[in-house]
Amino acid sequence: MTLLVTGGCGFIGTNFIRLHVSERRERIVNLDKLTYAGNRRNLEDLPESLHVLVEGDVADGELLKRVFSEYKPRALVHLAAESHVDRSILGPGEFVRSNIVGAFTLLEAARGYYEGLTPPERESFRFLSVSTDEVFGSLGPEDPPFTEESPYAPNSPYSASKAAADHLVRAYHKTYGLPVIVTNCSNNYGPYQFPEKLIPLVILNALNLKKLPVYGDGRQIRDWLHVSDHCRALSLALEKGRPGESYNVGGGAESANIDTVRILCELLDEKRPEPAVESRASLIEHVRDRPGHDRRYAVDCRKIERELGYRPLVRFKDGLSSAVDWYLDNPRWVESVVSGEYRNWNRRNYGESYE
Ligand code: NAD
Ligand code: DAU
Repeated sequence: MTLLVTGGCGFIGTNFIRLHVSERRERIVNLDKLTYAGNRRNLEDLPESLHVLVEGDVADGELLKRVFSEYKPRALVHLAAESHVDRSILGPGEFVRSNIVGAFTLLEAARGYYEGLTPPERESFRFLSVSTDEVFGSLGPEDPPFTEESPYAPNSPYSASKAAADHLVRAYHKTYGLPVIVTNCSNNYGPYQFPEKLIPLVILNALNLKKLPVYGDGRQIRDWLHVSDHCRALSLALEKGRPGESYNVGGGAESANIDTVRILCELLDEKRPEPAVESRASLIEHVRDRPGHDRRYAVDCRKIERELGYRPLVRFKDGLSSAVDWYLDNPRWVESVVSGEYRNWNRRNYGESYE
């Protein structure tokens, strides 16, 4: 049996593949373009019998046809995307190409493949598309969390591109009967996350006594989900989810950015005391807000709990502590991703003093 995963060399993909092969010993074919966010070394230790990396673009229809006919996957998990909101603000074109055209091209290839399957193979085939809670827009302080019925109201080029992909995925189910499942999850954190995202950025800047950029007043709220909980939810959706359905996945851990940053500062002060600063919190700098910045996300996961038995297991503070440990214990991984491109990004997004 073979499972096709796209974007498997990124943060969630790496965690998902590691979990999947350790639990099921099933071969993964991983199609990844290896952008700045994809790192082939993340999975290098897996044997070829369990992990095959195909370097390529999900928007390349000819390549997709070859991958389907050569590897004959029983199902696929689509994770490949440009994923960082700030990058979508500075350069939306790549988001339209990878996230919308890429999803469309993959759907077309999967549809052709699905039509050639035998009835039992069709019965078990799944197209699991990994999406985000950001497609639902922004909540007010007293609003109930997003459900699967919340209206779509994306506010950034990134979330608009993910929303477009969700609509295409839905249409391929309604129109062509492709057995799709969509998951919409909240902010993930944990091992292997590229340090452009808030949590690893703050861990590494605080470790190196660099400034900690907090957008605006820092009172924006995110619902933090440990990546291991998310990956368990993806496995449940893949194996037990109902075709044509979407499932929200959250961590049940709403936290304002400024509080999250302060907890990380305390953890680092404790784990790596630094006499040069009394507390890392003194490194916090409020910087210009992100345009169109969503104020609050929160996810109602009762559907996936009820139907598939999902429950987040990692408490936020424990997850943050183990994430800090992971970045402290893996300086070689950090070194390998903090390249010239990363420094250029910091200069573009935050200005010279953050290079
Ligand atoms: P990531 O940026 O860490 O990794 C993305 C991966 O996709 C990289 O390996 C990259 O090389 C690959 N990729 C990008 N464009 C590609 C293309 N055109 N063809 C093939 N490969 C390509 O992202 P992530 O955080 O692991 O997110 C994975 C998925 O989950 C994305 O679809 C994202 O929108 C979604 N998601 C992420 C979060 C989160 O908090 N990280 C939350 C909700 C949803
Ligand atoms: O909600 C799910 C989404 O979570 C995913 O779909 C995205 O792929 C993922 O990137 C993430 O989006 P966010 O924009 O919420 O994540 P980010 O880590 O970029 O930012 C988290 C919060 O922290 C957000 O309110 C912006 C703020 N922030 C972020 C950075 C990078 C800062 O205050 N300063 C920063 O330097």
